[in-house]
Amino acid sequence: MGRLSTWAYTFGTLFFLVSCSFALFYGYKIYTHKLPAEKNTDEKYHYHFVLVPEELDNEYWRLVEKGAKDAAKQYGVLLEYVGPKQANIDEHLKTIEMAAASKVDGIMTQGLSDKQFSPLIDRVVANGIPVITVDTDSEKSNRIAYIGTDNYHSGYLAGKALIHDTKGNINVAIITGNFYANHQIQRVKGFREAVKKEKRIHIVATEESQISRIRAAEKAYQILQNHPEVNAFFGTSALDAIGIANVVELKKKQNDIYIIGFDTLPETLTFIRKGVIQATVAQQPYEMGYGSVQMMVELKERKKIPSVVHTSTSIMRVEDLPVSHLSGMEEGQ
Ligand code: BGC
Repeated sequence: MGRLSTWAYTFGTLFFLVSCSFALFYGYKIYTHKLPAEKNTDEKYHYHFVLVPEELDNEYWRLVEKGAKDAAKQYGVLLEYVGPKQANIDEHLKTIEMAAASKVDGIMTQGLSDKQFSPLIDRVVANGIPVITVDTDSEKSNRIAYIGTDNYHSGYLAGKALIHDTKGNINVAIITGNFYANHQIQRVKGFREAVKKEKRIHIVATEESQISRIRAAEKAYQILQNHPEVNAFFGTSALDAIGIANVVELKKKQNDIYIIGFDTLPETLTFIRKGVIQATVAQQPYEMGYGSVQMMVELKERKKIPSVVHTSTSIMRVEDLPVSHLSGMEEGQ
């Protein structure tokens, strides 16, 4: 073999070996490669739950969602947060129907009104999908459990706070989220009960905002036109006191009108700091969301869960705000 052919033979062998190694290496890579979609389905969730809020983008419900998502992460749950863009009872019911049709492992929802929600919840539960009500109970339904505020008690607390914080004759107007919603009815009932024996307190008007701060403002404006004697407001859902406060501030009546609202949304706290809203009933939306997932997981694991879990409520006034609010920092930053 001449030198040239020896060289050619060696080079050929080397080339063959290198090609084989590449072929083997890339062959192995292709075989073991996972497409992103495949990777997703590989991630194993133990359960698939759906949480249906009253209104998707409502800041209050975003806190419920956050709690639920944190618990879902902790327990290996695939959690979907779906519902009406704006409060709408038909869309709310349709969302529950759809979740049930897709055979999820559990549904957490507001139990807004007994009349419309109970028959549907009963059907879903009868088909083997557990339902836990959150924030608002549908007590007459076959829901497995409820987690949220004791709504009657929270309204009662608001009434007692009004008595505590005011003197003299008080003409109070109530602006409530909806006349038909279970929790709103309970809050108004508790409030009425608390002020019932207080001779100096008179409830002069009750209107509904349909879970909209604009409508709450419109109603507050109308009330002040029709009842100039009003010197206090009670807003029973998260956006009501904000709408009322906007009108009161616009009319420069913040020194004459007492406002008590619900929840601790950033705008509410800002109004409290400014002295336009005097007090608010603080609920625990994050805990409701977190607890609802935890309870549903326990239920799926055949553990016994309580049928009612009341998260805490308390009255918050300017002196109860975190230091950041007193030092002028805007909330939510
Ligand atoms: C209620 C929620 C409601 C929200 C509306 C809260 O006080 O608990 O049920 O959706 O207000 O903004």
